[in-house]
Amino acid sequence: TMPILEQCYNLMDFEHVARRVMKKTAWAYYSSGADDEITMRENHTAFHKIWFRPRILVDVENIDTSTTMLGSKTDMPFYVTATALGKLGNPEGEVLLTRGAKKHNVIQMIPTLASCSFDEIIDAAEDGQVQWLQLYVNKDREVTKRIVQHAEKRGCKGLFITVDAPQLGRREKDMRTKFQDVGSNVQSTGANDVDRSQGAARAISSFIDPSLSWKDIPWFQSITKMPIILKGVQRVEDVIKAVEAGVQGVVLSNHGGRQLDTAPSGVEVLAQVMPALRERGMQDKIEVFIDGGIRRASDIVKALCLGATGVGIGRPFLYAMSAYGLPGVDRAMQLLKDEMEMNMRLIGATKVSDLNTTLVDARSLSLH
Ligand code: FNR
Repeated sequence: TMPILEQCYNLMDFEHVARRVMKKTAWAYYSSGADDEITMRENHTAFHKIWFRPRILVDVENIDTSTTMLGSKTDMPFYVTATALGKLGNPEGEVLLTRGAKKHNVIQMIPTLASCSFDEIIDAAEDGQVQWLQLYVNKDREVTKRIVQHAEKRGCKGLFITVDAPQLGRREKDMRTKFQDVGSNVQSTGANDVDRSQGAARAISSFIDPSLSWKDIPWFQSITKMPIILKGVQRVEDVIKAVEAGVQGVVLSNHGGRQLDTAPSGVEVLAQVMPALRERGMQDKIEVFIDGGIRRASDIVKALCLGATGVGIGRPFLYAMSAYGLPGVDRAMQLLKDEMEMNMRLIGATKVSDLNTTLVDARSLSLH
């Protein structure tokens, strides 16, 4: 029998339940990583190499987990990252994530390849609720321009351009299920002639432009006033280039381990990026986010101590939504909030701006 919601005590519990109750194709699409899934596993285990250095005898009666990302206030330093095909896991799709985000006052990134239409996801939000757009850049730039300008008009507060997916990775678990049902699960792409023999991911991604390059960034800056963030940056040199290109942010991410296997985890790159930015006096020129493998608030706290502005969380909310619908999403976010308050109290930090490198020992993280 399926555990009741109250028996889920952490984000991993939702994954165990989802694995049992989800349709095979949906589970395969959500849970798969590229190739041998080494990067996917490393995303989470990298956090185990970071240890806290707690401060004692700090007055921690009141804890404030709120912060600001890209100029927008949020109650928690995590956001719901973009994940495609929400209706595979739950017939209501991404609007459930919107409602969960509303309840907890956290930010949601809307995926290009959502199952619900973009406008449905915008309409599900309350006035003042902050949403961002994740963009897969279409070969047809007029289509891209229309999507971006529509998002800006509808009030999106950030444009996250995915830069780690000029070709979709091989997610073999997904490919093996020979995805049959793409058409009814994705709305916003206009992808028609899809190759269904390659799994869900590859079937829906054929419109993505592999020729996208640094030269295109000024064009994006010319068509929108939204802050531009590159999602999927994986090395220090590219963060420096991003600063020089004048974009407002980067997400250090390997797409949840779904693209290049044995690419480094976001938190591992973060530990190299922040010192490099400080060395060049660039630390205030760009907001650095990470995603991948974040399952505990302690992971969030560690990322913030290392200099991240915020973190994205993907699969856990999909699993919560698939297993329990909105109450699942709600509980997953509440669990993170409770964990966050406890972690901050126990390391002696009362607010997000207290989180700094002296509170962690990340020496075992270094890739050098
Ligand atoms: C993703 N991710 C993703 N990223 C993106 O830019 N566009 C997309 O359409 C998708 N789709 C997608 C689907 C599914 C099922 C997953 C699991 C992931 C990547 C996502 O934004 C993020 O980088 C990872 O999910 C973060 O890792 P965790 O939290 O899932 O471990």
